[in-house]
This record gives sequence, C-alpha cells and structure tokens, in this order.
Amino acid sequence: MGIGGIGISAVQGALHAGATTVIAVDPVEFKRDEAKRFGATHSFATMDEAADLARQLSNGQGADSAIVTVGIVKPEHVGQAFAAIRKGGTAVVTGLGGGGDAVPIDLTELTLYQKRIQGSLFGQCNPTSDIVYLLDMYKLGALRLDEMITRTYSLDEIGQGYEDMHAGINLRGVVLFD
Ligand SMILES: NC(=O)c1ccc[n+]([C@@H]2O[C@H](COP(=O)([O-])OP(=O)(O)OC[C@H]3O[C@@H](n4cnc5c(N)ncnc54)[C@H](O)[C@@H]3O)[C@@H](O)[C@H]2O)c1
Repeated sequence: MGIGGIGISAVQGALHAGATTVIAVDPVEFKRDEAKRFGATHSFATMDEAADLARQLSNGQGADSAIVTVGIVKPEHVGQAFAAIRKGGTAVVTGLGGGGDAVPIDLTELTLYQKRIQGSLFGQCNPTSDIVYLLDMYKLGALRLDEMITRTYSLDEIGQGYEDMHAGINLRGVVLFD
C-alpha cells in the first residue's frame, strides 16, 4: 500500500518470498504501472478495490499480509490494512508520520481472528549480513535496484529533485555527486 521506493521494494520482497498474488495500491497511475513492471499481479488506486480482490481470490478470507508503505501514514491506512488481511494475517507498518492517533481496528477481529500488526524498520534486517546478501542478489540480477531510479539529478538540480519528489513523479530520484 503505497508504491514509492519502499513499496516497490516490498513488491520485490513479496515475489522473492514466493507470493503468487501481489496487489499494489497507489493513487498515482505511474506508480501502479511501475508496480506491474516489477511483477505485481494487480494494481489499484484504493485499498477498498484491493481488499475486494484479495477476498475474491481467497474464498472470502483476505490477504496473507498487507504492507503499509504510504508516504505519510495515517491511522486509517493501518485500519484498512488490518481489515484487508485474513485470519492469522499480518499488517506490516513501515511508513512513518501518523502521529499518536488511535488506529481504527475491529478488536473482535484482533482476538478471534488472531490478526497481527507488525512494525518494521529497514525490513527487520541484520545490516552486517543482509546488505552483503542483497548486493549479491543485485549482482545476480535478482534485485532490481537500477530500475527503481526514475531519474538522476546533478547537485545543481537538487531543487528540481525536491519538486519532483513532492509531485510524486519518481519512483526514486537520485542525486549524483559527480
Ligand atoms: N520502516 C523503515 O525502515 C523505513 C525506511 C525508510 C522510509 N520509511 C518510511 O516509509 C514510507 C514510504 O517511504 P517512500 O520513500 O517509499 O515514500 P514515497 O513518497 O516515495 O512513496 C509513498 C507512496 O505512497 C503513495 N500513497 C499516498 N497515499 C496513499 C494511499 N492512501 N494509499 C496508497 N498509497 C498512497 C504515494 O502516491 C507514493 O507513491 C515513509 O513514511 C518513510 O518515512 C520507512
């Protein structure tokens, strides 16, 4: 949910973890197209549409996991992810910025469906071992990092880079210090 740099990495991670159905959600069409290019099987502008499809494809149960990678996370985003997962499913929250507001979740579902809400920082990785592993995957072509860069900027163009970031037109914009 949210196809920026973090979300497109979640798409790649889900595929590596063996997911056969990966539903990407982003209000921006370009981001939805990029998600498909990276292997997402479906993409939608809203969580309602995505959750409907997840239920249709799983005999009414819902998604195994919903990963919240929205730029500025609001409590309702976490509530939508929680509502979209199946019994025993996990809603993962990686995005920041929601403040301390209460998350609207169904407490009956929390207990009876044994759902989980999981925070995640840097993919819960061990940088010492995992970054080496990720670089090896990149060298083998199994981790698509170059394709995540929509545009590069010189240092002089950094203002344009910020404008483009706010306009949401890059998957990732990268400043080169040549
Ligand atoms: N947990 C971590 O380790 C970690 C690391 C880096 C960044 N972050 C956080 O992860 C989040 C994502 O970072 P990013 O760099 O990918 O951001 P980004 O701005 O590149 O991407 C966010 C995406 O969310 C989309 N979006 C906005 N509202 C949405 C909605 N209601 N539903 C679906 N999509 C929506 C935007 O269109 C955008 O494509 C940020 O909150 C960032 O601070 C977390």
